[in-house]
Amino acid sequence: MAYFEWNTSYDIGVDIIDSQHRRIADYVNGLDEAIKSDDKAAVFDLMELLKDYTFDHFAFEEQLMERAGYPLLDAHLVVHQRFRAKVNDFEYALRSGDDPIGVARKIRNELTRWLIQHIQHEDQNYAAVVRKALKKESSWVSAALTRIFGTETRV
Ligand SMILES: [Fe+2]
Repeated sequence: MAYFEWNTSYDIGVDIIDSQHRRIADYVNGLDEAIKSDDKAAVFDLMELLKDYTFDHFAFEEQLMERAGYPLLDAHLVVHQRFRAKVNDFEYALRSGDDPIGVARKIRNELTRWLIQHIQHEDQNYAAVVRKALKKESSWVSAALTRIFGTETRV
């Protein structure tokens, strides 16, 4: 059984965001496998992928909320910013020679707990506003995906 087992209650009903959240869960599960097989090189690789993808996802989500005129954007930005700082701290611990498997365990545990909580509260809160805006914004979404992820299909 995967460490981060997706549950449909984590879906916020915005397909593009739900796919990105699932992708983050996949990376967490990759990290879990690296921990179980004591693969330190994989921990470094996955940490980089996880950070890049999560930060791109945050950027996309932030621009989407802004485009949709979401009124609680500023509070959401603060929450993302705090989490970015946490991820940077983990990365610093890895680069400074802390035991990679130990750091990976902390990242896996905290990211999973944080993401589930964040999705079910802050992300759920913007879902209705964003869903409504997305109905007339498909070309903006394609352009934003290409701008942020480098490809329109990177979900
Ligand atoms: Fe968010």
